[in-house]
Amino acid sequence: MSEASASLPAGLLIRAPAHALAADFADAAELQPVTWTKGGLLCAPRAADDPERAARALAGLTHSWEARDAMAGWPEPPSGWMGGWYRRSAAHAPAPPGVPELIQTSGEGFGAAGHPTTALCLTLLAQLPPGPALDAGCGSGLLTQAWIALDRGPVDAIDLDEAAIRHCHDSLAAAGRSAGVRLSRGPLRGLRDVDLDGRVLLANIPAAAHRELLPRIGAGTNVALIAGPGPDEMDEIAAGYEACGLRIAGRAVSGRWRAMIMERP
Ligand SMILES: C[S@@+](CC[C@H](N)C(=O)[O-])C[C@H]1O[C@@H](n2cnc3c(N)ncnc32)[C@H](O)[C@@H]1O
Repeated sequence: MSEASASLPAGLLIRAPAHALAADFADAAELQPVTWTKGGLLCAPRAADDPERAARALAGLTHSWEARDAMAGWPEPPSGWMGGWYRRSAAHAPAPPGVPELIQTSGEGFGAAGHPTTALCLTLLAQLPPGPALDAGCGSGLLTQAWIALDRGPVDAIDLDEAAIRHCHDSLAAAGRSAGVRLSRGPLRGLRDVDLDGRVLLANIPAAAHRELLPRIGAGTNVALIAGPGPDEMDEIAAGYEACGLRIAGRAVSGRWRAMIMERP
């Protein structure tokens, strides 16, 4: 156990009912909630993947809490707060009413937690128009799952990596959100115009994958959420979408990372 982890209590009871915690669940999400009890929310803070972030969350708690000697469990993969969503495993405590959640199983693909740009995309998702979506390079499927959770429409999700597809499949099944999702494995260069036409494009992928996708963007792509290139490559990739007739209609920024909504005027 690391020093930072050892400084966290083995167990933790946040003394607040679910409705009170719902107003600000970000810190609780980092403290590995395991069970709702009559006295509040029982957590296993040492199960956090980043003990220093968990320690900051503990320091930031606005509700009273008490340390417990016994571990409340070791839910995996660790939960966290991501772009306004509570991302958790099936073994974590469910979200309080009104807090949106995404369920992730353990997986070998891109990983459970996603990337800083996944969080940026999640913050922008609700600004996109509803409709069928194409999640290009879906990874563990967080954007696909969020699209289904928001009831925006069906999703075609594609990824090159077999492990990512398995992870996406298992997470959607654990969340009960498989209906309306079609998963396929393959490279983005295999997509045809018809696969993109009329779909909201969700593309949080590396620059090289955007470069594969761009020649396939035709007049039928009216809106795209783009992210994933390194900070120094993002302008070039956005310019590629502008060359396809799309314009920047929204953005989210975290440090040097950016995500953008591109729309056809
Ligand atoms: C940074 S991860 C993002 C995953 C997901 N979009 C998200 O927001 O969490 C990028 C994903 O794109 C996939 N990928 C990269 N290049 C690809 C390509 N040429 N064709 C299909 N998938 C690709 C990777 O396998 C990986 O799962």
